Formats: sequence, structure tokens, C-alpha cells
Amino acid sequence: MLTAVLLAALASVGSAFTLSASDGTYATVYTHCANEGEVAFTFDDGPYKYMKNISDIFTKAGGNCTFFVNGNNWDCFYNDPYPEYLQYAYGLGHQIGNHGWSHKDLTTVDEATLYSEIDKVDTGLQRMLGVTPHCMRPAYGNYNDTVLEALYNRSKVAIIWDVDSGDSTGANSSTSKSIYDTAIEQNEFNGTFLFLNHETNPTTVSEVIPYVIPKLLAQGYILVTIAQCLNIPAYTNVTTASNRTFQWHC
Ligand SMILES: *[C@@H]1O[C@H](CO)[C@@H](O)[C@H](O)[C@H]1NC(C)=O
Ligand SMILES: *[C@@H]1O[C@H](CO)[C@@H](O)[C@H](O)[C@H]1NC(C)=O
Ligand SMILES: *[C@@H]1O[C@H](CO)[C@@H](O)[C@H](O)[C@H]1NC(C)=O
Ligand SMILES: *[C@@H]1O[C@H](CO)[C@@H](O)[C@H](O)[C@H]1NC(C)=O
Ligand SMILES: *[C@@H]1O[C@H](CO)[C@@H](O)[C@H](O)[C@H]1NC(C)=O
Ligand SMILES: *[C@@H]1O[C@H](CO)[C@@H](O)[C@H](O)[C@H]1NC(C)=O
Ligand SMILES: *[C@@H]1O[C@H](CO)[C@@H](O)[C@H](O)[C@H]1NC(C)=O
Ligand SMILES: *[C@@H]1O[C@H](CO)[C@@H](O)[C@H](O)[C@H]1NC(C)=O
Ligand SMILES: [Zn+2]
Repeated sequence: MLTAVLLAALASVGSAFTLSASDGTYATVYTHCANEGEVAFTFDDGPYKYMKNISDIFTKAGGNCTFFVNGNNWDCFYNDPYPEYLQYAYGLGHQIGNHGWSHKDLTTVDEATLYSEIDKVDTGLQRMLGVTPHCMRPAYGNYNDTVLEALYNRSKVAIIWDVDSGDSTGANSSTSKSIYDTAIEQNEFNGTFLFLNHETNPTTVSEVIPYVIPKLLAQGYILVTIAQCLNIPAYTNVTTASNRTFQWHC
């Protein structure tokens, strides 16, 4: 990002230069959905105890959603019942993305930690689901050029959001509902939304989502995965899940 700004600045004064700061290439960062009429709900920080509730709500509404999961944040994703919950959500067609092993801010860690935050979640999802996510949501939505290089090196893209329900930063359910109402009314993103929510907030699950979904459906929106709303693959590797082994621990 910094490099791009610098290059633009140099280009504008017509200087000749060689790219020397980095030979890397950066992962694409997406903040909005691409297809008019499509809405992507994302749920971060699980797997947690409401994963099946959320999965059922979207499936019953004829749609899909996306979970950006950690390996070891609120709980260890290898612990029961999480492998089953992940398989349930994945099996219904909801998308599973990578949210980092322990929710570290990737712009504050050394390179070895940066890669282990990415890779340990990939390893677990490859074991439990047989897939490797294409999409990563960096914790706190924070990234810098090193993070984007590492994601590119792992064949991933970074997914941010355009509307934050506020459910991890103190908004109660009525505030979250009004954030949704305003967003839908203002329609700033050309008939698309990429919503941020947290799987770990019970009122998101019991109150806010059941309130907002019928509103969106009544306006003709469809509820889709990140992969669908961006026309990109959900996974870079799709094989079959393994059975539990002694390696499945945090
Ligand atoms: C809105 O999206 C539609 C369909 O993807 C596209 O054809 C149109 O150009 C977009 N309009 C704006 C203002 O971005
Ligand atoms: C939801 O996912 C299922 C399974 O992949 C798919 O058949 C269905 O078309 C998807 N629904 C929407 C609205 O994208
Ligand atoms: C990104 O953050 C890491 C950790 O703070 C740092 O080591 C690295 O130099 C930063 N990268 C860039 C391009 O600023
Ligand atoms: C990404 O891979 C390129 C090519 O192997 C390498 O030069 C670069 O240092 C890597 N970036 C990071 C952040 O590891
Ligand atoms: C929700 O939060 C808003 C803003 O902080 C506050 O005004 C309101 O009273 C709260 N509502 C409930 C039901 O707690
Ligand atoms: C989740 O589903 C379970 C089982 O149906 C139910 O008992 C529980 O109240 C639900 N939780 C939320 C937050 O909706
Ligand atoms: C996909 O994952 C399987 C299981 O980990 C691995 O054996 C295989 O090499 C991977 N394929 C690709 C294309 O990365
Ligand atoms: C998992 O275990 C079952 C029962 O032992 C076996 O039938 C199945 O082939 C195993 N699956 C894999 C992917 O190893
Ligand atoms: Zn998070």
C-alpha cells in the first residue's frame, strides 16, 4: 500500500525508479461485494456455540453466510463440538474463512508468527473439512504490506467489510439494528453489502440477524457467501476431511 502510494507519487513527477523495497506481490483487499442485489454476512471469532444457530437461520432464509474462524481464540477449534459445528456449517454451503490462529494483530508480529497465525488455521480446516480457505480476514481488519505479501504467498485474499454492526465494540442489539436500518436506507454500495458481525455475540444471533434478514429479503436482496459476492473461489484446495488424530489439539 505504502509502496503503491510512493510509486504513484514518483510517477506523477516523472522520475525513473526501480522497485527495491520488496519483490513481493500483494494480496487483493476487498471491502465491498461486487454483484448488485447480493449481500454477504460475515461472522468472526468462532467457532463458538451459536455456529449451528447462525447456519440454520441463513439456510432457512434460503441463503448462505461466511464464518471467519480462529484456531484458538474463545476456545480451541479442535475441541468438541467445534469440528462437528464446522462440518455442519460447511455442509450446508456456508463459507469458512481464516481469521488467524489466536486473533493476533498481524501488523504487530514477526514474520514467523504472521505465517503461523495463517498456517495453523489452514492446517486445522484442511484436517476437519478437507479445504483450505482462499479468504482471510485479518484480526481487527488490520494489515500492512508485509501481511498482504504473506497472504499473497499463501494464495489468499484479504476480506474487510463495509458495514460494521458494532457487535464487538459495545453496540447493543438496538444500536446494531439501527446501524443496519441506516445502511439499508442509505444504500451506499450500489445495492450490495459486506456486513461484519461476531459469532460470539448472543444477541446478534437471537435478535439482530432475525430482524435484518426479512428486511433485506423484502427488498429483493439475496444472502450469499463472500466467494459468491466477489466471484472468487472459496477455497484453494478441496479434498476430503480426515478422522481425528492425536495431532488435533491447540
Ligand atoms: C452497480 O452494479 C451493477 C451490476 O454489478 C453495475 O452494472 C453498475 O455499473 C454499478 N453501478 C455503480 C454506480 O457502481
Ligand atoms: C447456498 O449454498 C448452497 C450450497 O452450496 C447453494 O446450493 C445455494 O445456491 C446457495 N444459495 C445462495 C442464495 O447463494
Ligand atoms: C508490518 O508490520 C510488521 C510488524 O510490526 C513489521 O515488521 C513490518 O515491517 C511492517 N511492514 C511494512 C511494510 O510496514
Ligand atoms: C513472499 O514470497 C516472495 C517470493 O518468494 C518473497 O520474496 C517474500 O519475501 C515473501 N514475503 C513474505 C512477507 O514472506
Ligand atoms: C443501547 O445503547 C444505546 C447507546 O449507547 C442506549 O442509548 C440505549 O439505551 C441502549 N438500549 C438498551 C435497550 O440497552
Ligand atoms: C441456539 O439453538 C439452541 C438449540 O436450538 C437454542 O437452545 C439456543 O437458544 C439458540 N441460541 C441462540 C443465541 O439463538
Ligand atoms: C490439498 O491438501 C491435501 C491434504 O493436506 C494435500 O495432500 C494436497 O497436496 C493439497 N493440494 C494442493 C494442490 O495444495
Ligand atoms: C474414518 O474412519 C472411518 C471409520 O473407521 C473409516 O471408514 C473412514 O474411511 C475414515 N476416513 C478417512 C478419511 O480416513
Ligand atoms: Zn475478530
